[in-house]
Amino acid sequence: MAGYKSKMVEPISLPARERRERNLERAQYNVFNLPADEVFIDLLTDSGTGAMSDAQWAALLRGDEAYAGSRSFDRLESAVRDVMGVEHVVPTHQGRGAENVLYGTLLSDAEDAVVPNNTHFDTTRAHVANQGAEPIDCPVDGTHDPGLEAPFKGNFSLERARALVDEVGADRIPLVIQTITNNSAAGQPVSVENTRRVRDFADEIDATFVIDACRFAENAYFVGQREDEFAAAETEIAEIAREQLGYADAVVMSGKKDGLVNAGGFVATDDEELFERCKQRAILYEGFPTYGGMAGRDLEAMAVGLREAVERSYVADRVEQVRTLGSLLRDAGVPIYEPVGGHAVYLDAAAALPHLEADAFPGQALVCELYREGGVRGVELGSFAFPETDRPELVRLAVPRRTYHREHFDHVAETAATVLEKGRAVDGLEIVTEPEMPELRHFTAGLEPR
Ligand code: F0G
Repeated sequence: MAGYKSKMVEPISLPARERRERNLERAQYNVFNLPADEVFIDLLTDSGTGAMSDAQWAALLRGDEAYAGSRSFDRLESAVRDVMGVEHVVPTHQGRGAENVLYGTLLSDAEDAVVPNNTHFDTTRAHVANQGAEPIDCPVDGTHDPGLEAPFKGNFSLERARALVDEVGADRIPLVIQTITNNSAAGQPVSVENTRRVRDFADEIDATFVIDACRFAENAYFVGQREDEFAAAETEIAEIAREQLGYADAVVMSGKKDGLVNAGGFVATDDEELFERCKQRAILYEGFPTYGGMAGRDLEAMAVGLREAVERSYVADRVEQVRTLGSLLRDAGVPIYEPVGGHAVYLDAAAALPHLEADAFPGQALVCELYREGGVRGVELGSFAFPETDRPELVRLAVPRRTYHREHFDHVAETAATVLEKGRAVDGLEIVTEPEMPELRHFTAGLEPR
């Protein structure tokens, strides 16, 4: 048995119902507009919202803020080598900074390029598109079926990728990405076997293979549980991670996830030439390559965080906590995406509010009701966030690392059950103001009840 005790606390409280009603109205039924102080249990994201350990806080004091040659960079580099098995590191301010550095480098002269990924996360899609390339999702069959029980619903579909090669030609595919775990597919894991096959595919078409490793430790934990080769051997989490990441030519990382820090990220690669090119672009957009976009103290905290992220006691506690939230919701009769992923529980809003059609945004209606009933903040990932796609109507309840406890999850499950009891009394929503870019609409659009 292992877990955590508190050494520092932050008070939270549930605002009165009238206040929650008023907040929703003021926020134009978009929870990104809510002041965080008005939220009781904040499950908007698991990105940069977790608690650091005492060892990480202690490491902050060791931070070496030298512009060049910082000691703290050396410690991060050692951690990346030990934990992830990758040689060279370019630190960035967060994951999307790493995406800009790496995809800007790899796609700089790739006209008409097409980039397959098991599923592009929003910022990945935007960075690929920003380079003039076309991002194409290649999820396996069943990924978008909330009811299908399968161990690796996050996998990359080789069949779809090969069909893409037939359609556009291998020459137009300079880059293949695999995202582990697959955030935009309900946080589902990716098997090592699938990674090996993507490596072979990339070799066949002479493409660079990148792994988006934001949640690599959670993915390795699932592999250890579900993939025979590793389950039988009870392989260490870090060993599984190194095996999986070792197939990639480069990794992009948001330290705000499995780096267990509040800010930071990096590109890592064994390829000397790619490393040199990334460093040049990093100098332009991030900072000198021994600090990139980060303060020396944050490099230290991430060096410690990466090592903690692959401790079995940590990652088991983390993934099982998410699973517990899933069980509480399921037991309360709330329809959820199965199986539960690594960082979040995804609610099936179409099943929860069947009287609302897609154009009434059932997911966003559910998000608003969770706040109205219990001060809980989640995020819609359905027809409001992804217009013009046929994704399921999901609501993500992401669990910040080492932050909440069982009683908080009891409250979340009770709140969701109360919303479900309201049934047809839950109104749909319509959009009243929206930004120019449809890809970013859910962050700032305003809505009202229909
Ligand atoms: N890739 C994946 C798979 C992600 O989930 C994220 C961030 C990024 C890249 C970008 O990293 O935020 O550090 O710039 N996901 C967060 C989320 C924002 O809420 O899922 P970043």
